[in-house]
Amino acid sequence: MSNLISEELDLEAEAVLDPSIQFERDAANTRPPKAIFLTGATGLLGAYLLQSLLQQTNADIYCLIRSDSPDSGKQRLQRHLKSYSIWTDSFNSRIFPIIGDLAKPLFGLSTQEFDQLSQTIDLIYHNGAQISFIRPYKALKATNVLGTHEIIRLAGLNKTKPVHFISTLAVFFNQSSTTANALISETEIPKYDAGLKGGYKQSKWVAEELIRLAQERGLPACIYRPVRISGHSQTGITQNFDDFFFRLLKGCIHLKQFPRLDIAITLLPVDYVCEAVIQLSLRKAPFGRAFNLLNPTPMPWKSFIKIFMSWGYELQEVNLDDWMCSLQEYSRKYPQDQFLKLLYFFMRKPSNLLAKKPKVETTQTLQELEALGVFCPEINEKLLSSYISYFQAIDYFPHP
Ligand SMILES: NC(=O)c1ccc[n+]([C@@H]2O[C@H](COP(=O)([O-])OP(=O)(O)OC[C@H]3O[C@@H](n4cnc5c(N)ncnc54)[C@H](OP(=O)(O)O)[C@@H]3O)[C@@H](O)[C@H]2O)c1
Repeated sequence: MSNLISEELDLEAEAVLDPSIQFERDAANTRPPKAIFLTGATGLLGAYLLQSLLQQTNADIYCLIRSDSPDSGKQRLQRHLKSYSIWTDSFNSRIFPIIGDLAKPLFGLSTQEFDQLSQTIDLIYHNGAQISFIRPYKALKATNVLGTHEIIRLAGLNKTKPVHFISTLAVFFNQSSTTANALISETEIPKYDAGLKGGYKQSKWVAEELIRLAQERGLPACIYRPVRISGHSQTGITQNFDDFFFRLLKGCIHLKQFPRLDIAITLLPVDYVCEAVIQLSLRKAPFGRAFNLLNPTPMPWKSFIKIFMSWGYELQEVNLDDWMCSLQEYSRKYPQDQFLKLLYFFMRKPSNLLAKKPKVETTQTLQELEALGVFCPEINEKLLSSYISYFQAIDYFPHP
């Protein structure tokens, strides 16, 4: 059904920007910013963006948040940052919850509230999104596409505010780029391709198109495209338990087997993504750029599994078909185990982790980040031990 829906979609026609939204071409760019609007602060990357913006600017941070009242919204944010061990009470006075929903026109705010917000803020980080690898485009459109549309409306109202938009590298992962050994250059724009499957990728592609349309009208904006984001490099903390890769490892522990795979593992710690976005966005550089963020030193699956097994997990190597059979058998035996059922579903999808990905050129971005003192943590024993010990501590991975 979901495939049928995506077949019928005309994604290019989905990117329509209200003609009344306009921008001042010579907008005064307030540096340093005094008031910043951030979406998605209750998510994985958003928690760290909020912390960094509080630490690295003197601005007040207005956070769009789904909650009943500003008080409960603030408590939600506090609890969220505490769960990542990054809360400090000194943050309190500079956080202003804006109770709203990306999926609603004007975020569900009244016209006056929206107008007031547009006058108060002078910079926008649009990071909030609904991430789902099973839901179709139509289910994600309101939050991911229309939400971005309302962000652009906010950016143009009363005075032009620059926008930093968090997209995903997956907007390039269409059928032609994954089959033709494609190389994605640093300046490449993700063109429309009917082979772009999956509602999430499609919705982020349309959202990017909206940002590009707004840029043509004069919006100062940058786009950041990380690949799959993993936990903090030092603490290992994440709350993204849907992550396909860690699900795969958990599946290997359950089955006491790992599949023979010819893939390289790339992990992108959330603290690196956050620091990259913050440093690139706060420097004095022209807008209009897009940055592809991925780990320059992927690790072969076999080496990765070797380190994983050194933690005491005894796993037997089998070929992928046998591993899939074991997984299917295990899922049949334990039908109530949704976790393994979903893993089986993901592993069968042609666009999963095992699918061939295009090569992505990142030399210039990496050089710029290095000049700013931002280095991507290497995927090595130290990084993996942060993740494995965290997953063991919270009983996500059983102890061997
Ligand atoms: N995670 C990855 O591996 C990855 C990879 C590439 C790109 N990205 C991009 O990075 C950004 C952050 O990802 P993440 O992993 O940090 O996501 P996340 O943990 O799932 O957090 C999503 C955030 O968006 C908010 N949100 C969702 N729907 C909303 C709505 N209708 N109204 C208001 N807020 C809403 C959520 O609020 P609630 O708490 O209320 O749900 C939450 O704060 C996203 O734009 C994503 O597309 C992520």
